[in-house]
Amino acid sequence: MIKKPIESSSPLLPAIAERYSGVSFDAARPVGVDTLRTLAEAARWAPSCFGDEPWRFLILSKQHDASAWQKGWDCLMPGNQAWCEHAPVLVLITTDTLFKHNDKPNGFGPYDSGAAAMSFALQATALGLMTHQMGGFSGDKARELFGIPERFKTLAMMALGYQLPEDQIPEQFKAKELAPRKRKPLGEQFFLGGWGAGI
Ligand SMILES: Cc1cc2nc3c(=O)[nH]c(=O)nc-3n(C[C@H](O)[C@H](O)[C@H](O)COP(=O)(O)O)c2cc1C
Repeated sequence: MIKKPIESSSPLLPAIAERYSGVSFDAARPVGVDTLRTLAEAARWAPSCFGDEPWRFLILSKQHDASAWQKGWDCLMPGNQAWCEHAPVLVLITTDTLFKHNDKPNGFGPYDSGAAAMSFALQATALGLMTHQMGGFSGDKARELFGIPERFKTLAMMALGYQLPEDQIPEQFKAKELAPRKRKPLGEQFFLGGWGAGI
C-alpha cells in the first residue's frame, strides 16, 4: 500500500493509520484462499451483542469462482463497477436481523457486523492488502442472485486485493488514489464527560 500520511494527535496501530479506501487494484495479483481464511478469522473474533455473531460474509474471489465474482460485480453501482473491475475479490457483508436465541429483532446486528467488517479490513491492511467498502450496490439484486434468506439484511460490499505499484496507477484513478485522507477535528465528535465538550 502507498503510505499516506495522516494527521493524528497520537501514534496509532499501523493498520489503523495505513488503511485507506483505494481504487487501484492489481488484477494480476489474486488473494489466496489461506489469506481469505485469515481475514475471515479476524472478522470472526469481533464482539457481538449476546455473542450472537450476526454477520455473514459472502466472499467472491474471481480466481476461485469467476461467475460468482461476476454476480457480485453486477450488484455494484456503475461508479463502483468502474474501479472494482480490477478487484480480485468482492465481499458482501450481511447481518442476521433476528437474534438466534429468541428470534426477536436484533437492533445491534449492523453494529456488530460493521465491527466484524472493520476487523476484516484491518487484518487485510496488516497483511499488505487494500480494502474499499461500498454502499453503492443493490441489496435486492444480491439477495436474488445469491439466494440470501429474508432474515439477513445486506449491509455493504467490500473490494479487496493488492494495490497496483504507484507507477502503474492509471491516470483516471490517480486523483482518487492519491488524495490526502482527512477527518473532522477530534473534539467535534468525541466528547469527554459532556455532550459537545470535545476531548
Ligand atoms: C458503509 C460505507 C459505504 C461506502 N460506500 C462507498 C461507495 O459506494 N463508493 C466508494 O467509492 N466509496 C465508498 N465508501 C468509502 C468511503 O468513501 C471512505 O471510507 C471514506 O471516504 C473515508 O476514506 P478512507 O476509508 O480512505 O479512510 C464507503 C464506506 C463505507 C464505510
